[in-house]
Amino acid sequence: MSDQNTTGTPSGTPTTTTNSGAPVSSDEHSMGVGADGPLALHDHYLVEKLAQFNRERVPERVVHAKGGGAFGTFTVTQDISEYTRAAFLQPGQQTEMLTRFSSVAGEQGSPDTWRDPRGFALKFYTSEGNYDLVGNNTPVFFIRDGIKFPDFIRSQKRLPGSHLRDHDMQWDFWTLSPESAHQVTWLMGDRGLPASWREMDGFGSHTYQWINAEGERFWVKYHFLTEQGHKTLTQEDADRIAGEDADFHIRDLHAAIERGDFPRWTLKVQIMPYADAESYRFNPFDLTKVWPHADYPLIEVGTMELNRNPENYFAQIEQATFAPSNFVPGIAASPDKMLLARIFSYADAHRYRVGTNHAQLPVNAPKNEVHSYSKDGAMRFDFQKSEVPVYAPNSLGGAHADPTATDDVPGWESDGALQRSAATLHPEDDDFGQAGTMVREVLDDAARERLVGNIAGHVSKVTRDDLRERVFAYWTNVDADLGARVRAAVVPSAPGSNEDPETVAVEA
Ligand code: HEM
Repeated sequence: MSDQNTTGTPSGTPTTTTNSGAPVSSDEHSMGVGADGPLALHDHYLVEKLAQFNRERVPERVVHAKGGGAFGTFTVTQDISEYTRAAFLQPGQQTEMLTRFSSVAGEQGSPDTWRDPRGFALKFYTSEGNYDLVGNNTPVFFIRDGIKFPDFIRSQKRLPGSHLRDHDMQWDFWTLSPESAHQVTWLMGDRGLPASWREMDGFGSHTYQWINAEGERFWVKYHFLTEQGHKTLTQEDADRIAGEDADFHIRDLHAAIERGDFPRWTLKVQIMPYADAESYRFNPFDLTKVWPHADYPLIEVGTMELNRNPENYFAQIEQATFAPSNFVPGIAASPDKMLLARIFSYADAHRYRVGTNHAQLPVNAPKNEVHSYSKDGAMRFDFQKSEVPVYAPNSLGGAHADPTATDDVPGWESDGALQRSAATLHPEDDDFGQAGTMVREVLDDAARERLVGNIAGHVSKVTRDDLRERVFAYWTNVDADLGARVRAAVVPSAPGSNEDPETVAVEA
């Protein structure tokens, strides 16, 4: 506050001002005609306060609305320059960054401990522009084509009439989308309820492309492995905490950073030589699959440490915009259909949710110089000197594009007629195989038992018997023994519940 505002107020505190800086005579009383008379419209300070209040929110994210985050540092500890020329991934580099964690389906005030995947969104403020890696705490996803994403999300959110969340919708979509089996197995297992954001891994999930200084290309998957150790909650604990502290995960991260206990993750990557993709045993760009470590081992890259809490949640977390289209030289997209859809979707969401000039906000602005030809638009405040040309090409010394600067071309080879189906060109392009392997080979007996219990608890809330049958078939396809155990553990549906789910939900 400036000194000129500090006169005439108790104990030397600054004088309240309007948004335009003029002093205000009362924080507590509106201007009325007499003590109990009507209020004056020209009490512009009252009007400003109420109008500003009405505009305090931006729309919540259409997914991942509930979350929290912190700033930190990414440090490269190994030499991986043979795989990528990205400046921030060169040996010894340290880069400032922002991370936002979130749940997916719940709204802004929803409990942090609802069973859900968790978002793991990273923004690296690199010397070559912002690099955003917008991943989850799971290496796979429910679908493999972005055209299904709106339907998938609607099935996980709320019924149109009653506004209730609905197990019938969820299982209807999942069982009609068998490619979801791997991710749903993850979700129903222990890792569907992380004890904290600090105690879970993060994944880029998609396959991306890395390009080295010689122009050689590789396929890459990112794994951020927690150095805090994995910790998960039982369903009972999660339910209890949801009632006691809806903000359990936000509080945990904030408190850890406040006490100097900075959480860290080791970044490891899997690298697939470019030519392997065509002949690999399954489509390496299919987001419902992981690459077995035996085929492509983990290679260490560096460490991410979160060490600074935001000073203002709205300005630095709510208005943060992470976009899978934010690449830097040395990193590019892959033919993953989900990734390609996301490359459109996020920047579009940001223009709507925060505004067309969202990239100017301090939390989103790159730390390097921007020489973009974008101009004007709502709330624009930065601009070039008037002699800088506003069009390209120009002969006035304005910025010009550099064909060697980016890696979007050459990309990958592709040709063929337009089509709306994915050809299965690889022998193991199935829906259930990796989910079954996870159940049989990754989980131990106790974890399998908890998986059966979690699925059965969830499915017991499905009201339609035909849908329950489809659910049992789905789990039998994952693993015959698991299917039988789920069937045996599900509580039989109540008489009369086998009705239209919307009607049942309204009556409940
Ligand atoms: C948020 C779309 C798949 C992770 C969002 C948002 C949209 C969106 C529109 C809100 C963005 C905003 O308002 O700032 C989509 C579409 C997908 C898809 C169309 C499929 C084609 C995925 C996948 C992952 C993912 C596969 C993880 C691997 C996230 C995360 C956020 C998010 C972490 C929150 C980012 C933040 O913290 O601001 N998604 N999404 N999404 N999505 Fe997706």
